[in-house]
Amino acid sequence: MRINAAVLWEQGRPLSVEAIDLGTPGPGEVLVEMRAAGVCHSDLHPARGDWPMKTPVVLGHEGAGIVREVGAGVTRIRKDDHIVLCWAPACGVCPACLDGRSVLCDRLDKVTFRNKLPSGATHLRARDQTVAPFLGTACFADCVIVPEEGAIRVAADVPFDALATIGCAVLTGVGAVTTAGHVPAGATVVVIGAGGVGLNVVQGARIAGCERIVAVDRGDRPLALARQFGATDAINAATGVAAAVRDLTGGRGADFAFDTVGAPATLTSALESVRKGGTVVLTGLSRADSQGTIAMFPFVMQEKRLIGSVYGSGRPATDIPRLVQLFQEGRLKLRELVARTYALPAINDALAALESADGGRGVVVW
Ligand SMILES: NC(=O)c1ccc[n+]([C@@H]2O[C@H](COP(=O)([O-])OP(=O)(O)OC[C@H]3O[C@@H](n4cnc5c(N)ncnc54)[C@H](O)[C@@H]3O)[C@@H](O)[C@H]2O)c1
Ligand SMILES: [Zn+2]
Ligand SMILES: [Zn+2]
Repeated sequence: MRINAAVLWEQGRPLSVEAIDLGTPGPGEVLVEMRAAGVCHSDLHPARGDWPMKTPVVLGHEGAGIVREVGAGVTRIRKDDHIVLCWAPACGVCPACLDGRSVLCDRLDKVTFRNKLPSGATHLRARDQTVAPFLGTACFADCVIVPEEGAIRVAADVPFDALATIGCAVLTGVGAVTTAGHVPAGATVVVIGAGGVGLNVVQGARIAGCERIVAVDRGDRPLALARQFGATDAINAATGVAAAVRDLTGGRGADFAFDTVGAPATLTSALESVRKGGTVVLTGLSRADSQGTIAMFPFVMQEKRLIGSVYGSGRPATDIPRLVQLFQEGRLKLRELVARTYALPAINDALAALESADGGRGVVVW
């Protein structure tokens, strides 16, 4: 079939929204008609060339839609199901999967992070070339073909704008607090970067019952949104972050710091902002070649901890339905994350707004 899709032909150049060919779902695959897709900074990184990547590729990895066709042998998903895309479809049988850490599934290294589908099929073609699906998802497109484990069924009465960001920003941010950090009630946390992921760290901390939630960002709009999502304090990153955190915590430092930016400077701020015995959780993704530094002596003497966290650190197949339930109970803000909506042809405007940190998430809607 012919679909419209946003193709990155060359890193550092605008995406081209054009009519391309999409095949039919093979065994174990489903065809999903997109209804809403969040624009994540992990789409901006390859678009701008922060992460070297083979092109052409269709970007987009966070979104929701309706199943229109199922391939042979699909058992968990039916036509007309409403689904949230999961860009980390786990194999279920590798050591990481058996250990309950399906975001570390071995199959992701072999296929997903190489922009391939587990089946090996190539379904996208444009200008007589095969086009890769970013993270095996490629949802800046009218329709996608994903493995059935990449489509998580959700209740049909949840609006698509609410579902748009669950499959990356929300899962990553909330999971960093609950699953990676195991942050206890009453804790004091610092959240560096109050964008799509950071706002969800803030609301994850609020749900976990944290007493003090300090948001740090360079922009006033992200900080205002962070307060709406549960931050008790807001610090402009232009001021000395660690000193400001100490001022707010009686000189002690925070119990946890979340670096959702992932730059060498923000990692340093996060490490300096936590108290003795405190924990830093790093979710922000740097350029592929970045190195951060650690002040090693105080890191040891103060028994600090540093944890990397990808995609919520848990099991997306069960975590995503739990997040939907939290939304239905009125405990998770989802629609409030959507600051701007775009039609697919305006995808480059959406990426530009993300780059200028306009606050909240931009969402492509169909
Ligand atoms: N670990 C994961 O699984 C995972 C998942 C999704 C995104 N990511 C990565 O997380 C990062 C954030 O993604 P996002 O979609 O939330 O981005 P975003 O653009 O929505 O938010 C980033 C925020 O950080 C702020 N910021 C930038 N530099 C700062 C600084 N020096 N100090 C304080 N604030 C600063 C910006 O103003 C913006 O509000 C990206 O690197 C992305 O690739 C990781
Ligand atoms: Zn696995
Ligand atoms: Zn993402």
